Amino acid sequence: MSAAEETPGTPSRPARTARPATDRLAPPLDLAALVADPDTRIIVCCGSGGVGKTTTSAALALAAAEAGRRVVVLTIDPARRLAQSLGLVELDNEPRPVDVPGVPGELHAMMLDMKRTFDDIVVAHSTAERAEQILENPFYQTLSSSFAGTQEYMAMEKLGQLRAGDEWDLIVVDTPPSRSALDFLDAPNRMSRFLDGTMIRLLTAPARAGGRAGFKFASAGFMIFTRIISKILGGQLLRDISAFVAALDTMFGGFRERATATYELLRKPGTWFVVVATPEPDALREASYFVDRLSAEGMPLAGLVLNRTHPPASTTLSATRAEAAAEAVDDGDAVAALAAGVLRVHAERMTLATREQRLADRFTSAHPEVAIRTVPAAAGDVHDLDGLRTMGEALTGADDDTPTGVPRARVLPARRA
Ligand SMILES: Nc1ncnc2c1ncn2[C@@H]1O[C@H](COP(=O)(O)OP(=O)(O)O)[C@@H](O)[C@H]1O
Ligand SMILES: [Mg+2]
Repeated sequence: MSAAEETPGTPSRPARTARPATDRLAPPLDLAALVADPDTRIIVCCGSGGVGKTTTSAALALAAAEAGRRVVVLTIDPARRLAQSLGLVELDNEPRPVDVPGVPGELHAMMLDMKRTFDDIVVAHSTAERAEQILENPFYQTLSSSFAGTQEYMAMEKLGQLRAGDEWDLIVVDTPPSRSALDFLDAPNRMSRFLDGTMIRLLTAPARAGGRAGFKFASAGFMIFTRIISKILGGQLLRDISAFVAALDTMFGGFRERATATYELLRKPGTWFVVVATPEPDALREASYFVDRLSAEGMPLAGLVLNRTHPPASTTLSATRAEAAAEAVDDGDAVAALAAGVLRVHAERMTLATREQRLADRFTSAHPEVAIRTVPAAAGDVHDLDGLRTMGEALTGADDDTPTGVPRARVLPARRA
């Protein structure tokens, strides 16, 4: 990063660039219209870990209920205090009404229980006897509670169930705390590939073949192969997997079709993705990958929520000038020291906001079409209905100038033309 770029208050690119990044203003993201639109039926909040997906989902759901809609928010991993304030004291895997006084619509909330969701699929698609066999199978128990991707898969599954009932005007979906936002899109396929995959077919071939005469793979080489594998994995696990996959195969037409069906739901009209990121390089890089991926898959992106920004109270004084003024006034006198302190705090905020704006600009240069809504960091965590309301207001409030003169599509005001 060059020294010129670090200077607060300057555009994010050197002036010699033909088209400075700041000239490309990101379109504003009108989330108020999105949540109120009767055609909006599903909103999926994606992003890397810790950026505010769960909070944004809950705040958007509340805003939609305030706009008169019957909304359910499917949360995945709400922080305990947020869960409590939504009345989610225990995982029961069904939507529960949230008591929000004075709201014209309805807000319901649920917390995903991935094992219960998986169990329910098994029960719904097999005979009682076979369901029992599967549910008791140790391999199934591991898969349903800890396989990487099960949570993502089950979130989609639950979304499919909620949508199928057609009971909700709007479903807001939070996504699992994966390292990468792409996991939400990739995991179901990865999981179905795993279950339908060559490896598992090979491993379970003897069981599935059921002693069929002329079994092709039963060559000497293959026998050695399975013996080695069963040594590594353990014979019992292999038998568990075989039994599980055999039961699953007859239960419903394979995981792959099922994953495809839930995936298709995400491309249907009425579904919108909201990508959440914080103004940090890693989170924005993730957001960038995700945006590319959505567009490659033909999935509709509403825009980017840039969460936890730090707009300064005033932008009339640049960081450099505030620093210089602090130096100038700080002559040892107590009042002067106080003034200098205030100026230095301002300089720090300007520097931070400038850095955040530069990161946002970089994102906009790469994705000029992506609408952005910035949401300032609240003083503390967002853990109750009041906090969600404030956040909802920051997400959906009027998009023109805020009281401080900072348009919400940006951290810092745009340069006047
Ligand atoms: N705009 C905000 N201002 C202050 N705190 C926030 C804001 N957005 C989220 N948080 C806090 O950040 C933490 C992580 O948010 P969360 O929604 O759980 O992220 P994710 O679901 O992406 O992991 C929570 O403690 C939440 O209260
Ligand atoms: Mg979360």
